[in-house]
Amino acid sequence: MAYLEGNNLVASYGVVPILHECSVEVEKGELAVIVGPNGAGKSTVMRVLLGMLDATSGSVKFDGKDISMLSTQERINHGMAFVPQTKNVFPSMTVEENLQMGGFIRKDDISKTIDEVYELFPILHEKRKQLAEQLSGGQRQQVAFGRAMMTRPSVMLLDEPTAGVSPIVMDEIFSNILDVRNAGMAVLMVEQNAQQALNIADKGYVLVSGRNEHTGTGKELINNPEVRKKFLGG
Ligand SMILES: Nc1ncnc2c1ncn2[C@@H]1O[C@H](COP(=O)(O)OP(=O)(O)OP(=O)(O)O)[C@@H](O)[C@H]1O
Ligand SMILES: [Mg+2]
Repeated sequence: MAYLEGNNLVASYGVVPILHECSVEVEKGELAVIVGPNGAGKSTVMRVLLGMLDATSGSVKFDGKDISMLSTQERINHGMAFVPQTKNVFPSMTVEENLQMGGFIRKDDISKTIDEVYELFPILHEKRKQLAEQLSGGQRQQVAFGRAMMTRPSVMLLDEPTAGVSPIVMDEIFSNILDVRNAGMAVLMVEQNAQQALNIADKGYVLVSGRNEHTGTGKELINNPEVRKKFLGG
């Protein structure tokens, strides 16, 4: 059994079916990437794993237990963290306040974790007194990532962590993601930059219309002619 797994997830918004027996999984120390066209259901998979949307069938298992019945808050308390695709920072709070908010469920001293985030993202230390809304898009993504680190999660779900950032910042964020993976965290990430993301992924999923269309190692998917043609621009 994988560390985090969604098995045969079926989900809908109202009566509109979105996920059709979709399965994803990630191990500790592994980076798994979900790619696919807009509207494929990538963010929806994340929401089901987090318990923000109930699956009508299928299961979510985490650390050996079925957590399908747990609330989002309980899943977060158990070590899951989420960086959503949009509205992922508190714009009218400072960088440091955003990090403090991220750690609010902890009863112990969070200052060491804040320092670790600053080590990972030195620019955030420089801008710690600045409002998040005054940061660049890339810097805001770093705040969102850092905020998620504040609970010291064991699994991190990232929905398009490089949306709207320059290629250089994308490389920087990917390198930070590899650092946390190498530190033993399980990372599941949705990415629009499919080629670059699969390049660093241990495992990849191509999701189309809520179904697993291709699954393999990052390299296998990149070298698959059909995946190349349809999803990686040739
Ligand atoms: N809250 C909602 N209510 C109704 N339909 C929704 C809701 N959220 C998403 N959908 C629909 O579900 C489908 C899948 O959306 P989802 O956000 O999971 O796609 P995605 O693969 O993440 O797309 P993108 O790459 O654009 O982020 C889309 O058709 C979308 O319109
Ligand atoms: Mg999405």
